[in-house]
Amino acid sequence: MGEDLWKSVPDSLRRDGPPLLPELSEPEVIRHFVRLSQENYSPDLGIYPLGSCTMKYNPKASELAVQTHKLEKLHPEQDESTVQGILAVLYHLDGILTEITGMSRMSLQPAAGAHGEYLGCLIIRSYHKSKGELETRTEMIVPDSAHGTNPASAAMAGFKVVVVPSNSDGMVDLDALRKAVGSHTAGLMITNPNTLGIFEKGVLEIAKIVHDSGGLLYYDGANFNPLLGKVRPGDMGFDIVHLNLHKTFATPHGGGGPGAGPVGVTKKLERYLPVPLIGFDGKKYFYDFNVPDTVGKIRAFHGNVGILVRAYAYILSLGSEGLKSVAETAVLNTNYVLAKILASGKFDLPFSKRRKHEFVLSAKRINDKTGVRALDIAKRMLDWGVHAPTVYFPQIVDEAMMVETAETESLRDLDELVEAFLKAAEEAEKDPQLLKEAPHYTSVTRIDDVKASHPKTLTLHWKNPAAK
Ligand SMILES: Cc1ncc(COP(=O)(O)O)c(C=O)c1O
Repeated sequence: MGEDLWKSVPDSLRRDGPPLLPELSEPEVIRHFVRLSQENYSPDLGIYPLGSCTMKYNPKASELAVQTHKLEKLHPEQDESTVQGILAVLYHLDGILTEITGMSRMSLQPAAGAHGEYLGCLIIRSYHKSKGELETRTEMIVPDSAHGTNPASAAMAGFKVVVVPSNSDGMVDLDALRKAVGSHTAGLMITNPNTLGIFEKGVLEIAKIVHDSGGLLYYDGANFNPLLGKVRPGDMGFDIVHLNLHKTFATPHGGGGPGAGPVGVTKKLERYLPVPLIGFDGKKYFYDFNVPDTVGKIRAFHGNVGILVRAYAYILSLGSEGLKSVAETAVLNTNYVLAKILASGKFDLPFSKRRKHEFVLSAKRINDKTGVRALDIAKRMLDWGVHAPTVYFPQIVDEAMMVETAETESLRDLDELVEAFLKAAEEAEKDPQLLKEAPHYTSVTRIDDVKASHPKTLTLHWKNPAAK
């Protein structure tokens, strides 16, 4: 701040001298930010096989659909009559998603998968409350392979979480499930394919067991990419479904957002959805508040509309045949990589061999022999410009390395990923220390993971080093 400007600030509002802000020229600022952007990694740069995250390339056409002045200038408090276009988009997206999932109606409000799960749990509560059974139906069942958000959402909604184990094929142990259900069961939350990438073959039996006990079935649709256009959760017997639009329907995501986790329900549960829904009376689109037992609002206005529009554009650009080929190619890519890695004999694949969109390897044998851990292998891959897989999840696999290769990867990228796994395994035997200290060539080398995720030690503001 210039001296003159500083003097124009009244005495009572001044601190001890002009603030020590950095004085930089335009080129310096531009170079700083461009350099920072080059230190980053994204699906626009290369393969991003982060298991459980569906890091597919996001087509730029979807961005064009959303980056228009028409959309940017809309305000959610505008009168309905002035926002007919966007209401039509949301209404049609609701229709498409209900068709894809086999549900009856969707709420587009939830801002993430976990948010959708929480809404689903609130709907399950309201359903049992309306039957006078909430006092007794206090338990939510989740498999031991579940994504961590499932038990967390159930607990936040006030349920006691009951975990059912997987069987030797990596699927829900049906006998254990039969023992777990009863008049105390509120519902079951499950993702299919599960987090091991295995399709739960017993899903119809699972649905029957839970429904017979009076519970509801919640489908965590975050893993829906490999089933697009192939099977529908509604046909598998589910009552409530959420989709991760930012994953399956391609929106840049990561670092906590933004996202969209629309929730679909069967006819009998429509009465509990959040308000407003989007309606159409044959002439105009309108905010529909006519939801008798609504759980209320769970997010401001209509959710992350930008993500909803991207998903709409993505779906329309692919069409139904295109969506099916997304699923087929994603499964093919993953199984190609899996087969090549297994052929090397370096890694193990616990549980059954058939996988959908992802697989979870165990690096335990390497660890036992060389002391090199899954984490070290993942870090070493960064040196070769390949994004690492997810590690140590799900917890039912020792030294887990969870790989998901979306449909957007080329054969060359898939081969590069395989090569990175095999090269790391070879190096682990020859020079374990090299891996334990990796990465060596990234802009930031080995970080202290615990410190990095500890909010109290984060410094998120600029501090002038010259200031006291
Ligand atoms: C199986 C599964 N369920 C739920 C979620 C949670 O979704 P979100 O991160 O959008 O909250 C994820 C996230 O990747 C997931 O993989």
